[in-house]
Amino acid sequence: MPIVASIPDRLKFLLLDNRSARCYFLQRDTYKNLCLEAAFGIWLWPDYTRPAVKRFGYVFDPIFLLSCALYALNRWLIKPHTHIAFFHNWFNDILLIPCALPPLLLAHRWLKLRNHDRPPTAGEVVSHVIGWSILFEVIGPKIMPTTGDPWDAVAYACGGAAAYLGWQLCYSAADDHRANFDPLAPHYGWMEDLLAGQKLRRCRAAFLQSIPPPRHALIVGQGHGGFVAELLKAHPNARCTCVDSSLRMLEAARARLRQGGVEESRANFIHADALEWTPPTGEYDLIVTHFFLDCFRPDQLERLLPKLSAAAAPKACWLLSDFREPEEGLARWRARAVMEIMYVFFRWATTLPASQLTPPDALLANCGFTLGQRQTFDWGMLHSDLWLRQAPA
Ligand SMILES: C[S@@+](CC[C@H](N)C(=O)[O-])C[C@H]1O[C@@H](n2cnc3c(N)ncnc32)[C@H](O)[C@@H]1O
Repeated sequence: MPIVASIPDRLKFLLLDNRSARCYFLQRDTYKNLCLEAAFGIWLWPDYTRPAVKRFGYVFDPIFLLSCALYALNRWLIKPHTHIAFFHNWFNDILLIPCALPPLLLAHRWLKLRNHDRPPTAGEVVSHVIGWSILFEVIGPKIMPTTGDPWDAVAYACGGAAAYLGWQLCYSAADDHRANFDPLAPHYGWMEDLLAGQKLRRCRAAFLQSIPPPRHALIVGQGHGGFVAELLKAHPNARCTCVDSSLRMLEAARARLRQGGVEESRANFIHADALEWTPPTGEYDLIVTHFFLDCFRPDQLERLLPKLSAAAAPKACWLLSDFREPEEGLARWRARAVMEIMYVFFRWATTLPASQLTPPDALLANCGFTLGQRQTFDWGMLHSDLWLRQAPA
């Protein structure tokens, strides 16, 4: 039956709450749900072999995850309890592109039909809207007990357009802005205690006792200052310079020193963007970047690390704690999921420029540092490193 001819019948169904309407919706929903869920199924084998470049999240994309949650909510909670036509008829149609496109693009990537990891392009969204519309509204009605409806295609297009805009916003090329941790500063301590317990503290302190006593330490992105106080207590002859772009973090760190009974004059606090700030050359025999380098994009790290390493004295140590992706298995899945959630949160809460972790190892090696020791924690998702600069012979 031509699509247009079926419209009056459908409108009748929408207006009437009767058995045939329920039956119609049931058949149609089963048929569409099957197709959609088959598409979701593809996400069970995500690709971990891709290099760590700025990329689309595919099945970890927040718009995909939110749309799947809304789909499930509608399917199992809303639809069974309402006869409102919008929820039976168009709500899931609007979610078609944001739910189906990311796993399909991932499949395209594996099959080498897609040669990049950028967010869905306009061409991909439009071609999928057209493809799904033809499949569901033209071919489907000829082989399945359902009717085509041009309004469904309109719903796919609206959902596709909204998702496309969302993806553009989420993945738009970040400018050189810095993160703003001021709003998080009062909550950072309790959030860390609640979500990570003592794990991050253990990472930061892993090599505190085993490094040679520092004379002058540089702590970049020191945050609320727990480590500054520990360092100055563990090494009574050390002084340190702390650089942070968040005024409230600097205030919190100062307050911690006072509370911990550490002489405040031993620490010099500098309010600056580390990307802009120029440190004195060769001044520091200890550099500390705990849970800081993960704030930056690869191009920013390429500028930041040479600058910080130029500030290091000839035999300096570099303490670095951060997140990492374990090599394989469940631990890798877990770490990846945790990091995706963390980056979505921190990008939202602090306008973090990075959208994923960039391991700094190669850059540190290029700057003349060698990895002395590494400890891993929490199923390999956290690491604490001691990097050493060898004095030129
Ligand atoms: C995730 S927190 C980590 C804080 C602390 N090092 C820790 O171990 O918990 C990142 C810190 O880096 C600071 N930060 C982020 N971007 C910065 C930048 N461009 N320049 C200086 N500090 C920055 C933030 O203000 C925040 O205090």
